[in-house]
Amino acid sequence: MRKVLITGTAGFIGFHLARLLLAEGFRVQGYDGMSDYYDIRLKQRRHQILLQNPNFAATEALLENRDTFDATADAFAPDVIVHLAAQAGVRYSIENPRAYLDSNVIGTFNVMEAARRLKVQHLLMASTSSVYGANEKMPFAETDKADTQLTIYAATKKATESMGHAYAHLWSLPTTMFRFFTVYGPWGRPDMALYKFVEAILQDRPIDIYNHGEMYRDFTYVGDLVRAIRLLIDTPPTLPGMAEPIPGDSLSPAAPWRVVNIGNSDKVKLLVFVDAIEQATGRKARRNYMDMQPGDVPATWADASLLRSLTGYAPQTDVKDGIAAFVSWYREYYGV
Ligand SMILES: NC(=O)c1ccc[n+]([C@@H]2O[C@H](COP(=O)([O-])OP(=O)(O)OC[C@H]3O[C@@H](n4cnc5c(N)ncnc54)[C@H](O)[C@@H]3O)[C@@H](O)[C@H]2O)c1
Repeated sequence: MRKVLITGTAGFIGFHLARLLLAEGFRVQGYDGMSDYYDIRLKQRRHQILLQNPNFAATEALLENRDTFDATADAFAPDVIVHLAAQAGVRYSIENPRAYLDSNVIGTFNVMEAARRLKVQHLLMASTSSVYGANEKMPFAETDKADTQLTIYAATKKATESMGHAYAHLWSLPTTMFRFFTVYGPWGRPDMALYKFVEAILQDRPIDIYNHGEMYRDFTYVGDLVRAIRLLIDTPPTLPGMAEPIPGDSLSPAAPWRVVNIGNSDKVKLLVFVDAIEQATGRKARRNYMDMQPGDVPATWADASLLRSLTGYAPQTDVKDGIAAFVSWYREYYGV
C-alpha cells in the first residue's frame, strides 16, 4: 500500500485530496496546524470525517514546529509528500504579511528538509496562479516569465517554487509545483467569493463585486483539481534529457522539477458566476459594485495544455453544476 503524507488535510483542498486517495486504498498521514484564519469548526469537521477511515491518521501542529513535523514524517516514512498547508488568501496578506513568511517560507522549508532526508519518490507542493501577478498575456502558461507578484502571498509562493527547484537540483528530489486557479466546491473556504456570496444571498445581505464586475476567473472545481493532483502523483519529473521532450514543458534544464497549472482553462466573468449562484439558490443577489482592491488582478486564465499532455486530464465539471453542488452542501451543512 502506498503511503502519502499530506499537509493541510483539515483545509479545503487537502481534505478532498485525502478522501480521494483513501478511496483508492492509499494510507494517508495528515498534518495541519488548525490555524484560526477561518472558522476552525469547519476544519475539525473535515478531520473528523477523514478519521472515520482506519487508513488515515492526523497530527495537529504547525509546520514551523520542526520537531513535531520531523517526528511525524519519520514515523510514517511516506513514499510521496503532497504539501498543501499554507497561509492562503490574497487580501489577508496585506493585513498580516508575517503569517505568510512563517507558514509558507519557514513551513515549506521544513517540509522540503523532511522530503530530502526521507528520500521520498516525489514531492508535490502548492503554488498559485497569483504568481503570474501583473502578467497580461493570456492564457497564463508555465513557461511565461512570472516576476511581477503583487502581494506577499504571491511572493512567498514564488519563493517556494525557487526553493523547491534548488532542492530538486541539489538532492535529485523529483518535485512538482502546482499553480492552482481559484478552486471552489463543497467544503470550500469561507474567505472565498463563492462562500461569501452564498452566505450573504441566503441572509439577504448585499454582496461586494469588485472592479464593477469587470473581473474574470478561471474557476476550478475541487473534484477536478484533486483528480489532476492524483494523476500528477504518478508523473514525477525526471532529470532533463531522460524522457521524450513535451511541447510547452516547464521541466527545468538543471533539476527533476516542473511547475504545472491546474485550471479549468476557461475564463468566466464574475457576473456570470453570480448569475449561476442566483439560479442555484433561487434568490436574487443585492449587488454592491466596488472599485478594484489593492493586490487583486482583473483576470486569471490557465493554459492547461501541459497538464493535459502529461496526464491526459480534462476538467469535467461545468461551473453551473459545481456551484449547485456547493449550494446544496452549504444548505445541508448549515441546515438552511
Ligand atoms: N483554494 C484556492 O483557490 C487556491 C488557489 C491557489 C492556491 N491555493 C493553495 O492551495 C493550498 C490549499 O489551499 P486551501 O484552499 O485548501 O486552503 P485552506 O486554508 O482551506 O487549507 C490550508 C490548511 O493549512 C493549514 N495551515 C496553515 N498554516 C499552517 C502552518 N503554518 N502549519 C500547519 N498547517 C497550516 C490550515 O489550518 C488549513 O487547514 C494552499 O497552499 C493554497 O495557497 C489554493
